[in-house]
Amino acid sequence: MTRMFIKAAAAAALFALGVLAAWGQTDPKDLYLDKCASCHGADGAGKTAKGKKLNVRPVKEAAAKSSAADMEKTVENGKGVDMPAYGKELSKEQIKGIVEYYRSLAK
Ligand code: HEC
Repeated sequence: MTRMFIKAAAAAALFALGVLAAWGQTDPKDLYLDKCASCHGADGAGKTAKGKKLNVRPVKEAAAKSSAADMEKTVENGKGVDMPAYGKELSKEQIKGIVEYYRSLAK
């Protein structure tokens, strides 16, 4: 009985930790600011030093031409030589969230 309780408590603690860790990593805005803004800009305009050098398109232009699904593929697989691939580092859900956030900057 006690052993079962300990197991259950340990499972609950692990679960809570997992939820916290996942939550910390899945806020799309934080992920965007952390991983994408250096090139695409916090406002999505791509007017950072790196963004200008690499000819990053402003999100307004990009969102008018590409669907969210296209963008998710680009983020997952990368594009050209300068847009890194994030498929290994980020889950599909995270990429979806980031693209949604990125596109919201176009409005
Ligand atoms: C090292 C700079 C850099 C970083 C960091 C970066 N990108 Fe890009 N991104 C680019 C460049 C350059 C292009 C244009 C590639 C081309 O058209 O050949 C691009 C293209 C894109 C596109 C295709 C639409 C468009 O604007 O042409 C999307 C969507 C995109 N990036 C999203 C992201 C997201 C989301 C992240 C963060 C997870 C990210 N990028 C991080 C440089 C970067």
